[in-house]
Amino acid sequence: MSQTEFYNNKTVAITGASSGMGRSYALLLAQQGANVVLGDVAQEGLQETVALVQAIPGVQVVSMHLDVSDEAQWDAFKELCESRFGGCDMLINNAGIEGATKPVWASSTAAIKQTMDINFYGVVYGCRAFLPLLVHRPWAAIVNVSSIFGFIGTPNASDYCASKFAVRGYTESLMVELAHVYPQVQVHLVHPGGVATDIARSKGTAKFKRKFLTTPSDEMVNVVLQQVQRNTPRIVYGNHAKKTYWLSKLLPLTRLKQIISKGLKLVDPKDYAPDHKGFK
Ligand SMILES: NC(=O)c1ccc[n+]([C@@H]2O[C@H](COP(=O)([O-])OP(=O)(O)OC[C@H]3O[C@@H](n4cnc5c(N)ncnc54)[C@H](O)[C@@H]3O)[C@@H](O)[C@H]2O)c1
Repeated sequence: MSQTEFYNNKTVAITGASSGMGRSYALLLAQQGANVVLGDVAQEGLQETVALVQAIPGVQVVSMHLDVSDEAQWDAFKELCESRFGGCDMLINNAGIEGATKPVWASSTAAIKQTMDINFYGVVYGCRAFLPLLVHRPWAAIVNVSSIFGFIGTPNASDYCASKFAVRGYTESLMVELAHVYPQVQVHLVHPGGVATDIARSKGTAKFKRKFLTTPSDEMVNVVLQQVQRNTPRIVYGNHAKKTYWLSKLLPLTRLKQIISKGLKLVDPKDYAPDHKGFK
């Protein structure tokens, strides 16, 4: 079956649809005839995505302000999907933020909690809200976005890595549980490598963005959609993704630590001063 035949007429809910991969999911799926239900906190970008989708003939799109870290807002997102399209075939838990982008001793508790609230609890709330819709379909899928930072811990990203490891653990459990009860609901765990989006928004991550975030967003998303059609549970793709995956599997942590510490070239030396106030 072609990809277009596969996704045609499916209803897909996508979080973080204002930009980057979320926008790519919305456009590529709409081009294949799917109805798309879009949520994001960034209203301007969301309306731009909606306008781009509406320019594709014969497509149905609805959108709403959705903060994935607010469980109550998920009810409204689910209801929008149900009232407009009578249910949902696929949920893509894509929304995420880069996190504190500081070493452990310089990250505030509030920033760490925000990263977990969006990147991890956003996924948890999404799965719980949408499962009652998805299980009624003859075929359905949940796509949870982790990262290659769901395999390794890197400098200046402890909160981000923690959130993406958490998404990985949660999703690997969910896929085993659901296969037992509702095997027609596929569960996918996506580990993008460096993808060319605006995720790295802070000044401190500009060098990292230029050097590593290079895989085109549409290319990444197209691979995810192919692999969902093939029912591949773990999807690893994008700059440095496969290499990181295999190194994390094969190397002892002592060696992995040495390789990862090369990332320290990209950090602000002020954050790594032995007299940093976080040590006092
Ligand atoms: N770009 C990469 O290299 C890369 C690599 C690995 C994983 N990822 C993951 O891919 C996903 C998509 O990121 P992207 O690279 O397209 O970045 P992006 O910044 O372009 O997109 C993320 C979207 O999430 C939205 N968002 C942020 N907080 C939100 C909230 N509370 N509620 C709803 N929406 C919210 C943003 O407004 C934005 O539209 C994220 O989960 C990210 O962690 C990205």
